Amino acid sequence: MKKPTTYKNINQMLKLAGSYARDGRNLELCNLDIVPDGAVVFDENKILFVGETKKIPSEFKDLESIDLSGHCITPEVCDSHTHTVFSGNRADEYAMRLNGASYEEIAKAGGGILSSKNATDETTFDELYRLGRLRIEKAYALGIGSIEIKSGYGLTIENEILISEVIHKLKTDLSPKIQIKNTYLGAHAIPKEYNSSQEYMDKVAIPAFEILGKKGIIDFVDIFHEVGYFNCGDAKKLFQKADDLGIHIKMHADEFNDNGGAILGHEHGAISVDHLLSAGEEGIKTLAGSKTISTVLPGTGFFLGKPQAQARKMLDKGCKLAIASDYNPGSCHFQSLIQIASMIAPHENYKLSLAELWTGITLNGAHAMNLKNQGALVEGMKPRFSIFKCNSISEITYSWGENLAVPADSFKTLT
Ligand code: NIG
Ligand code: FE
Repeated sequence: MKKPTTYKNINQMLKLAGSYARDGRNLELCNLDIVPDGAVVFDENKILFVGETKKIPSEFKDLESIDLSGHCITPEVCDSHTHTVFSGNRADEYAMRLNGASYEEIAKAGGGILSSKNATDETTFDELYRLGRLRIEKAYALGIGSIEIKSGYGLTIENEILISEVIHKLKTDLSPKIQIKNTYLGAHAIPKEYNSSQEYMDKVAIPAFEILGKKGIIDFVDIFHEVGYFNCGDAKKLFQKADDLGIHIKMHADEFNDNGGAILGHEHGAISVDHLLSAGEEGIKTLAGSKTISTVLPGTGFFLGKPQAQARKMLDKGCKLAIASDYNPGSCHFQSLIQIASMIAPHENYKLSLAELWTGITLNGAHAMNLKNQGALVEGMKPRFSIFKCNSISEITYSWGENLAVPADSFKTLT
């Protein structure tokens, strides 16, 4: 076991202890818990002390310490919803949208998820791994330490398994520096050769799920429950199988239409229901006070030019709100979660306090990935931090377009 380390003279440290005590919901402004001139002592597994530098207990005084003056620390930023493993790009679709076409129209014209599937089909395991790894390293450089990655651009048994294995290798190779969660999203779109979503579920999505579940390499299963994609019957079939295999559920819910996705996910004990751009009164009421996390993806609203989710309503009703990027080639080609959260915060549908914003991208994001013991700087919790080169926490969300994150593994050069 390595000796504990001390970070000291941290300009400001964001603890989120109050937010943690409230399970990340019904927050007050003071739940940020900012400590000036902070210090944190930690070993490989847990935080041993958090507080002011001058109050470091004597037992830790002689430890190797790193001077972090000029820096701030927050709980680790977690991106709980991404589609990071894909090939090709869909820049032409973005241009088409700016010229007036909708996401749905582009998909009908042969673009959309199926065009990324076609590009991914022609890509080897090694190349998908290389592309995925580059993107993950980029996310890490943007301050993100834990990241969920979905399959979903294979859409055959063979290729869904291949992509899940790419994610598994990335997870294994990058751990513990970056924590990755592996989500199977075989039910993402229906290739042209199938006559119905049901046929595709029976021939591809469910059989691939069974194989992956038995291999033990996936953490979650997800489905794009949406008009023109997968319906309630498809979702129930998948959730039944998830129950049999003992795998947690996530769901793309109420993205383009309010079609009861949030309610369905909640009924089946989903760990999170994601998107919610169109979730209405009933869905929000169901999620209020529920264990199922409401994950909003404002980057997708920006990228597609859609009305944003009713996040303020969700927060006011007691939903546990996580904010994630949805990074993918079609509906949000943007990885900087901190930037997305900063830009959406003042939006009329959000009006986020800083406590809500930081809780959404740290504590609640971690919980949406079933990372239970992190997301706040509290003694006994995992030492997972994000570090920023600035004098105050408020500079991070204020500095649009700038990346203030400093990767944790560059610390040695800072002393
Ligand atoms: O979360 N909504 C479905 N899936 C992705 C989009 C994927 C794509 O367009 O390639 C999403 O927005
Ligand atoms: Fe998504």
